[in-house]
Amino acid sequence: MSNKDVYAVIGSPIKHSKSPWIHTLFAEVTQEPVEYKAVLGNEQDFAGSVDAFRAEGGLGLNVTVPFKQDAFNYATEHSERAKRAGAVNTLVFREDGSVLADNTDGVGIVRDITKNHGFNIQGQRVLILGAGGAVRGILEPLLSEQPSAVVIANRTVSKAEELAQDFADLGSVSACGFVDVEGAFDLIINGTSASLSGELPPVPETVIQSSTVCYDMMYGAEMTVFNQWAQKQGASQVIDGLGMLVEQAAESFFIWRGVRPDTTPVLTALRDSLK
Ligand code: ATR
Repeated sequence: MSNKDVYAVIGSPIKHSKSPWIHTLFAEVTQEPVEYKAVLGNEQDFAGSVDAFRAEGGLGLNVTVPFKQDAFNYATEHSERAKRAGAVNTLVFREDGSVLADNTDGVGIVRDITKNHGFNIQGQRVLILGAGGAVRGILEPLLSEQPSAVVIANRTVSKAEELAQDFADLGSVSACGFVDVEGAFDLIINGTSASLSGELPPVPETVIQSSTVCYDMMYGAEMTVFNQWAQKQGASQVIDGLGMLVEQAAESFFIWRGVRPDTTPVLTALRDSLK
């Protein structure tokens, strides 16, 4: 029996998750007695998988595809950002039996942009491409940085409109189709899964000016199609989602342990491992 506190990531499939690797490094750099596993969840019985993990003494879970909504329903309490996201990537099992749900994806991307890349979002014009679960997950933390305006562009315009409506109380948010985007932006975030199939959301080139920072939530060994395009259009910086991955993990670690790991060595090691 390990005398360490046990956490895990649950998903299906789960073999390729980088979370065990990241959290094991966090445990090393913080000297926290943490053991972190990968759990293959039962797609027919998420609650059963989680109950089994808790019965073995597990203290918290990261949750990935396809369980982010199941995790929301499993929890007894939700952070504001988890409520807004409607999805959960972090669960905390408390001693009194209650289960806290949080979503650290949005904080992850905001920290990566502001802390790691030195870009202050306040007062900036932000364009977001995509209107799926990934985008919904980041809107609350992004809007809390007080950009001057956020435009959400999506292939299916009605989904962008729905998001704009749901978050209208938090700032200036509008919606349109890709080809209808007007003007230039300070920050452009690609939250579509188009990069997966090597496709590019067809936004006008004029969205990019020489000071524009572009962020693709995807990452890989090669630069994403979107970031290649953005660089060609003269964007000042192109960033991929690897930093977001590490920062969202660090926020989960902080929620569980009350200790914030230094993410720099972990991000460097992870980047090297992709090569
Ligand atoms: P995720 O959890 O990654 O957000 P999702 O909820 O399925 O996954 O959302 C995928 C997003 O990528 C959507 O905004 C989708 O556009 P639609 O709402 O029109 O389906 C977008 N997307 C996927 N493939 C795309 C492509 N080839 N070009 C442009 N947008 C694409």
